[in-house]
Amino acid sequence: MNITQTLKDEHVLILKGLKFLRIARDKIESNQHPSKLFFQKAVLFFRNYADKYHHYKEEFLMFGFLAQKKEGQLDLEIGSLRHQHERGRQFLTRLEKSINGYEMKNEIAITSLLENLASFISVLRRHIFREDHLFFPMVEHELSLDEKTFLLTQFDFEEKKLNSNNPIEDNLELLKEMEKLIGVANE
Ligand SMILES: [Fe+2]
Ligand SMILES: [Fe+2]
Repeated sequence: MNITQTLKDEHVLILKGLKFLRIARDKIESNQHPSKLFFQKAVLFFRNYADKYHHYKEEFLMFGFLAQKKEGQLDLEIGSLRHQHERGRQFLTRLEKSINGYEMKNEIAITSLLENLASFISVLRRHIFREDHLFFPMVEHELSLDEKTFLLTQFDFEEKKLNSNNPIEDNLELLKEMEKLIGVANE
C-alpha cells in the first residue's frame, strides 16, 4: 500500500504552477511585464491548493502522526519541512503585496516581486524534491499496514472536508488560467 502517491501526484500540479512562475520570472528579468492578473491567479493557486490543501494534509495529518509515532526522532526532518512551508507562505504574502506597485512599474516593487518569486520557486522546488525522494520513501518504509490504513482514512475524510469549500476543480481552473495568461502576457 502506498499512501504518499496522492501527495506526489499533487506535487506534479504544484511543479506545473512553479514552471509558469519561472517563465514569469524570466520575462521580468528581460524587462517584460507579465500581467497583474497572472500573479493574482498564481497567489490564489499556491495559497488555496499548495498550502491550504496539500501542505495542510502533510502537516496536520502526516507530520503530526509521524512525530508521535517516532517520539522525537524525526523532529529535525519534520521541523525543516514545516519551516519550508512557512517560508513559502511568507514569500507568497510578500509577493502579493508587491503586485499593485509592480503593475504601476514601480522599480522597487518589481525588485521585491522578483526576489520573492525567485525565493519561492527555489525553496518549494527543493522542498518537493526532498519529499519525493527522501521523506516519502522513508514514510512508506516506516509505517505498518495498519498505520497506513489509518492515515489513508484520515486523508480521505479531510480531503472531502477541504474540497467542500476549496474545490479541486477551481484550483485546476486557476492553473489553466495561469498558463493562458503567461503564454500571452507580453508587452
Ligand atoms: Fe511539504
Ligand atoms: Fe508536499
